[in-house]
Amino acid sequence: MDKPNLSIRHSNLSNLPEIQRMFVDTISAVCKDDYSPEEIKVWTSSIENTERLIDKLTTQYFLIAELDNKIVGFASLKGNDYLDFLYVHKDYQRQGIADRLYSEIEAEAIKKESKVLTSDVSITAKAFFEKKGFRTLQKQTNIIRGVEIVNYKMVKELL
Ligand SMILES: CC(C)(COP(=O)(O)OP(=O)(O)OC[C@H]1O[C@@H](n2cnc3c(N)ncnc32)[C@H](O)[C@@H]1OP(=O)(O)O)[C@@H](O)C(=O)NCCC(=O)NCCS
Repeated sequence: MDKPNLSIRHSNLSNLPEIQRMFVDTISAVCKDDYSPEEIKVWTSSIENTERLIDKLTTQYFLIAELDNKIVGFASLKGNDYLDFLYVHKDYQRQGIADRLYSEIEAEAIKKESKVLTSDVSITAKAFFEKKGFRTLQKQTNIIRGVEIVNYKMVKELL
């Protein structure tokens, strides 16, 4: 779906609280069929580390999608070839927002002359990444604070 009012821009530190809130809300609502409440609790709590998030916001190519001054998505490229974040607001799913954010991230990776783009992709997001041409290298079981959380190491060769 085309969203003419959607704007994509670089994030800044003032966006930090909204990004933290949206991260928790998105995972809690959108990923609840793929992960248990315990897994979601551990996963969402990773965003509480504000120092770590400030580091990501200031060192990564970090974009936000805004609709009428409200953040409806965010995405980031770490270094030249690792997609770290891709999250879309729970009330704005399947409206092409991840599509727009992803295109900008891929374009930046190509600009940086990367040959590949990799990511650690949730069960929930796997179908989106497959649609974008990624393939799965391996299924991973991460143990965070004693809780097993499954995701997939995925890669896309860039032209
Ligand atoms: C994965 C995610 C980012 C997709 O965002 P989105 O804005 O809803 O995706 P888009 O609308 O741009 O989808 C583009 C296409 O990808 C595919 N796609 C997206 N979500 C899909 C799903 N759940 N199942 C199957 N295909 C999907 C579809 O082909 C879709 O096109 P269509 O709607 O015309 O069929 C979003 O669901 C999300 O925030 N998930 C939870 C957070 C998460 O797991 N993030 C990734 C961490 S690695």
